[in-house]
Amino acid sequence: MEEIVHFDNVMLDEATVPYDVKNLLDTARQVMLNAYAPFSHFRVGAAILTEKGNVYRGCNVENASLGGTICAERGAAMASVASEGYSRFKAIAIASESEDPTPPCAICRQFLAQFTDPEVPVYLVSTSSGILKKFTFGVLMPYAFTDF
Ligand code: THU
Repeated sequence: MEEIVHFDNVMLDEATVPYDVKNLLDTARQVMLNAYAPFSHFRVGAAILTEKGNVYRGCNVENASLGGTICAERGAAMASVASEGYSRFKAIAIASESEDPTPPCAICRQFLAQFTDPEVPVYLVSTSSGILKKFTFGVLMPYAFTDF
């Protein structure tokens, strides 16, 4: 049986990552700047590479009715389905401004689980400290609810 190597909180040097990962990080950082976050002032950007080779982006969009806020990760997932229909996610990058880069919230993990296999890499990057971390999705979202 093929062994799946899981990455849990692995620190990376961005200078050493492959071009496609760098591109995904750049996209996440760029879309983060479009975040609409007048309430929290915390901006998040997400970029998703699909199996079809396309990259989709999302940023957090807040609402005066705070529960109506949509996170960056769900925004990117919505963009992918709206643009190319259902496809599997092959890599995810999330950029935020906190010194320790933020992981996706639990609602977003559940949402992403619909499209993302456990071995898929999730890159978290901070735009303030430059810290870059790698996880596998299964580490962030074990025992996901995906079927009923
Ligand atoms: N936020 C995201 O966009 N993604 C996450 O996974 C964590 C939280 C946003 C939602 C809200 O606009 C702000 O960060 C503060 O919670």
